[in-house]
Amino acid sequence: MTQHMHDRLLIIDFGSQVTQLIARRLRELNVYCEIHPYQSVTDAFLADFAPKAIIFSGGPDSVTRAGSPRPPKSAYSLGVPILGICYGQQVMMHDLGGLVEAGQSHTAEFGRAYVVPTANRLSILDGWFQGDKGREQVWMSHGDHVSKLAPGFEVYGTSSGAPFAITADLDRNFYAVQFHPEVHHTPRGATLYENFVRLAGFTGDWTMRAYRQDAIEKIREQVGDKRVICGLSGGVDSSVAAVLIHEAIGEQLTCVFVDHGLLRLNEAREVVTMFRDTYNIPLIHADESDLFLGALEGVSDPEVKRKTIGKLFIDVFQKYANEIDGAEFLAQGTLYPDVIESVSFSGGPSVTIKSHHNVGGLPEKMGLKLVEPLRELFKDEVRALGRELGLPEAFIGRHPFPGPGLAIRCPGEITRDKLEILRKADAVYIDQIRKHGLYDEIWQAFAAILPMRTVGVMGDGRTYDYALALRAVTSVDGMTADYYPFSHEFLGETATRIINEVQGVNRVFYDCTSKPPGTIELE
Ligand code: XMP
Repeated sequence: MTQHMHDRLLIIDFGSQVTQLIARRLRELNVYCEIHPYQSVTDAFLADFAPKAIIFSGGPDSVTRAGSPRPPKSAYSLGVPILGICYGQQVMMHDLGGLVEAGQSHTAEFGRAYVVPTANRLSILDGWFQGDKGREQVWMSHGDHVSKLAPGFEVYGTSSGAPFAITADLDRNFYAVQFHPEVHHTPRGATLYENFVRLAGFTGDWTMRAYRQDAIEKIREQVGDKRVICGLSGGVDSSVAAVLIHEAIGEQLTCVFVDHGLLRLNEAREVVTMFRDTYNIPLIHADESDLFLGALEGVSDPEVKRKTIGKLFIDVFQKYANEIDGAEFLAQGTLYPDVIESVSFSGGPSVTIKSHHNVGGLPEKMGLKLVEPLRELFKDEVRALGRELGLPEAFIGRHPFPGPGLAIRCPGEITRDKLEILRKADAVYIDQIRKHGLYDEIWQAFAAILPMRTVGVMGDGRTYDYALALRAVTSVDGMTADYYPFSHEFLGETATRIINEVQGVNRVFYDCTSKPPGTIELE
């Protein structure tokens, strides 16, 4: 059996939209957990994983339907605490001898609800029901409901649509709730998870310091005395991965930084200085801007731009990587949300809005094995690891920057002149945001140069110059976003500064589009 260094909690995913949030809540408690889709959780998997506790997630199916998702029966006989959430509660009741009834309008609940306690006390609810009305706000999202408890279970909380909102079998340490404690709209949900993991015996040993040590050992074990190539983009993920791998294997790592000529002001110099000079990491600075900008000449279609850059990037990376003798591994800053094999009930493929620039096909093409030391981490955990590794705060807190760079912030044809104007304007805009102390409130902010000139008047003369769009959004994951509500004063001051300081611009717009319907980038 596999030896595991930390206590592990297993989340069996039945397809809820919010399963990842369960993992977030647990990681915040320094509990190591993994999400696995129910299809892959077999008896053998459970025995190997050796969870100290299990959580059944919610899900869109109905346990009353033949063939609906189930956990393996052996989960109930491992002797570890189990918490079932929503569909997870229903599946537990159904499997253990209770009754679940399919949705009826009077028992379905969607959105905010209130649970009140019964006379019995339950330790996983310590800290609950303390408000003046003695009730707790929770978030419900269920059509079916439990109509009869499984033997051994008692009820500890009820809501108007869920007579069995909170249930437990204390002898077996099985807990089951109809609502979702992981979401924001269950304000005291985190307390319930905290109490659950405490009673399951977790010690909160999942710290970044421990992660760093484990990761270093794993990298050494995987790589041995072979060489590793890491593509640096200047973003947080690849930077943290590179510094961590360098700490593990030193000079066996070589970084390749492809400069496609579409980077921000001084960006290439900053990346090279930091990695080569500060960290002493062997670094190839592949300045291929002529190649990329040449290939993009006359191209204005967004998808053609993206595909041109993506293909060239792979060719260039491969060319430089081939110069590194004996490289057997490629390091990537893949994160946990990218590797969770989500349960899809919707079927068909989703429509392609943009072909994202990535190097997904590289390892097979080059016959390299992957080193992915961040694949168990969420984005904010990568930042915490970066801090643990001593990366400068300004680097860690940087806004995301897309692979195709300024190309997708320059709708229409790309020229060196336009890129020059864009770089300077973007630097003034970001400087303004930093000076007003707003940088960390914003997910991403940038300037884009529009494919048009407009007439203006400066001094006593006529100008006919480019117009810029400024964009700033708040977001948690880039999937949806709101535009940032700058004050008029800030916008006016910024527009004035840009027009005064950047030659070639005579008009500035602010983009007030959220995502959807817009996207964050302009192309
Ligand atoms: P959109 O414009 O699709 O962007 O709303 C969502 C997030 O993804 C970033 N982005 C990219 N990142 N390669 C990347 O690495 C790409 O091709 C790419 N396109 C967009 C964008 O900056 C935002 O954070």
